[in-house]
Amino acid sequence: MIYPIVIYGSPILRNVSEDITPDYPDLKKLIEDMFLTMREAEGVGLAAPQIGKNIRLFVVDCTPWAEENPELADYRRAFINAEILEESEETDLFNEGCLSLPGLHENVRRPIAIRMRWMDEDFNEHDEWIDGLPARVIQHEYDHLEGEVFTDHLSPLRRNLLKNKLTNLTKGKYRAHYRTK
Ligand code: NI
Repeated sequence: MIYPIVIYGSPILRNVSEDITPDYPDLKKLIEDMFLTMREAEGVGLAAPQIGKNIRLFVVDCTPWAEENPELADYRRAFINAEILEESEETDLFNEGCLSLPGLHENVRRPIAIRMRWMDEDFNEHDEWIDGLPARVIQHEYDHLEGEVFTDHLSPLRRNLLKNKLTNLTKGKYRAHYRTK
């Protein structure tokens, strides 16, 4: 099943999401559907709040970058109950977009590496340092679990310049090539 994607302005995107347990109903199917929904929308990440569920689950697909980064050729992963434990001091800028904010793309400064603990889809625990493009996508998706979106990271001046675009999103005035709600 392909889910419609929740757009900026919905309170669902502003809630802090809750951990889940291995007995969460139809978890495997939900993860599969999130991958489907992400692929259909041509995204590289999708967090559960973006399909209307305030649970700590997101999926990441870095394979669109595999041509220049062969190590990402099979980088399709689900992250459950993720918790960022440490961040590198070094940061960089990257032009981000979000399926919940169609039409907006902005440079966002973030740490280049993070240490994160999470469960994979079989509920095996991992605790690893992650860097490169996966670290970038993961931090963006992690924000969604905390009720944040990428525009929250911009300077007040930059955010002010985007005010009309953000207001238009909340009013349903936007174009997206995927189903939204
Ligand atoms: Ni996003």
